[in-house]
Amino acid sequence: MNITHLECSACGLRHEAQRLLNLCQECGKPLLVRYDLEQAGRSLKKESLSGRRPDLWRYREVLPVEDESNIVSLGEGWTPLLTAERLGMTLGFEALYIKDESQNPTQSFKARGMTVAVSMAKELGVKKLAVPSAGNAAGALAAYAARAGLECFIFMPRDTPRANVVECEQTGAHVTLLDGLITDCGAEVARRKDAEGWFDVSTLKEPYRVEGKKTLGYELAEQCNWSLPDVIIYPTGGGTGLIGMWKAFAEMEQLGWIGSQRPRMVSVQAAGCAPIVKAFAEGKRFADEYPDAATVASGLRVPRAIGDFLILDAIRSSGGTAIAVTDEELLAAVAEIGALEGVFCAPEGAACLPALRKLIADNAVKPYERVVLFNTGAGVKYLESFS
Ligand SMILES: Cc1ncc(COP(=O)(O)O)c(C=O)c1O
Ligand SMILES: [Zn+2]
Repeated sequence: MNITHLECSACGLRHEAQRLLNLCQECGKPLLVRYDLEQAGRSLKKESLSGRRPDLWRYREVLPVEDESNIVSLGEGWTPLLTAERLGMTLGFEALYIKDESQNPTQSFKARGMTVAVSMAKELGVKKLAVPSAGNAAGALAAYAARAGLECFIFMPRDTPRANVVECEQTGAHVTLLDGLITDCGAEVARRKDAEGWFDVSTLKEPYRVEGKKTLGYELAEQCNWSLPDVIIYPTGGGTGLIGMWKAFAEMEQLGWIGSQRPRMVSVQAAGCAPIVKAFAEGKRFADEYPDAATVASGLRVPRAIGDFLILDAIRSSGGTAIAVTDEELLAAVAEIGALEGVFCAPEGAACLPALRKLIADNAVKPYERVVLFNTGAGVKYLESFS
């Protein structure tokens, strides 16, 4: 066990590890797990990885969970980094890749966060979990809670893609659909959790989902033979994946695995819900709530994110940017990537392609640079968007 403490991402206050905590007890911002990386590095070595289990628990020393028997796994992570030659050719790019997260359990990258959050909940004695979700996080929580034998309570907008609702019901969750957005669902969980005895696993409102998501960064480095790509294009809702990768890069530098060079982090949002794009353009550190949020890319319909400043800090210090794309553009990209590469992307993942086209048009990326698009989920879960 290499955890030293939990640290507030805003005020830096130290909190004790192995205690059930949500947000910073002083300022209410997200808590992050800190490790003794020198100690972790004694057994976790680049060379030691090749023989390890082909899931995200291969990075065990930099993940929480003390007792191995508390790990709740369905085989998540270690997804392929696919070359996208044909798509690259149409853009004049030689080194274009798709990190295909649709190959995770429950078909999205949300499995990464939930395997760690549910394992920790089990370790810390939680019996009931609750989450507000745009869809995929709910499906993942339902599956991992079932696997752990825990009860879970899910709150989603009524117009969430049907596949997400059905998968939760079929994996034993208690599902409530509300008129409103994910923020309204979050408010409902917050209002009821104390009386009901639920542990709130809203993204970044507990410290462990981001630990699972950070393995995207470790995997990318390992799959790129420890030379990170030049540009990462990532669809951003709550931003946990982007924040997690950024954390992973810092940890890997401390482990001596990579240097100080970082990929340019490009956050993609839908034009109908683009709080981070707006705050980035306006030079703000915190994003205002986005009014009348609407997009078919349900995972991007997040009008307010508690980790907004962490997303914006990472984008800015990497020399990256934030780009909005329309629903028309991202839906057309689903079919284009599908036909050229055989990957049926979630609309959120497909949004990376029109974003790349905008970067090219702005001369913000060069054809010889190595670019990774993150397909965060599976198109098959959004059938109503393709009829
Ligand atoms: C398929 C998909 N992509 C991207 C996102 C946004 O992810 P994050 O909250 O890590 O920014 C979501 C969130 O629901 C999602 O379901
Ligand atoms: Zn704080």
